[in-house]
Amino acid sequence: MISREEALQLLHAKNNEHNLICHALESEAVMRGLAEKLGQDEELWGISGLLHDLDYATTKEDHDRHGLDTVDMLEGKLPEEALNAIRRHACEMNGAEEPSTQMDFALRCGETVTGLIHAAALVRPTKIDGMKPKSLKKKMKDKAFAASVNRDCIRECDKLGIELTEFLQIAIASITAIAPNVGLTAE
Ligand SMILES: [Fe+2]
Repeated sequence: MISREEALQLLHAKNNEHNLICHALESEAVMRGLAEKLGQDEELWGISGLLHDLDYATTKEDHDRHGLDTVDMLEGKLPEEALNAIRRHACEMNGAEEPSTQMDFALRCGETVTGLIHAAALVRPTKIDGMKPKSLKKKMKDKAFAASVNRDCIRECDKLGIELTEFLQIAIASITAIAPNVGLTAE
């Protein structure tokens, strides 16, 4: 399997947009948190989170290739279960099979919740510090807030047997641990 260091180099080679790098690091952090909770392989889940949107820059205009081009770039570098999760995280765009494994659902809800948490943190004076699941639940109900974040995808955490409040707590804690790297600490 590709090492984290190689994965990071690859990520920077394919993406130079700050927002995307932050999204990748946050997705990695949440995937590690979920793997720990579920007794899964933290390194594998983390690296898969880090790389899941590797093709973002090149498939922005070509959504039906999103996920598939990433898998083409990662063939042989990650095991098939991870490649499947990457294909399936964007199955609505690329026509891949629907998610079915724990890892599939973890990547979908894990990468999606980062958008909600990042946006919510940016409008708080203390950024992510002190954020609570309850306030995120309120934001989920406010359809105008971070409107592009798919709430149904976040709710797929129940397929992992993790209730929404606990899932949000795991995601907040995971991203809080890397907050300085993704610009979410109070100035
Ligand atoms: Fe993503």
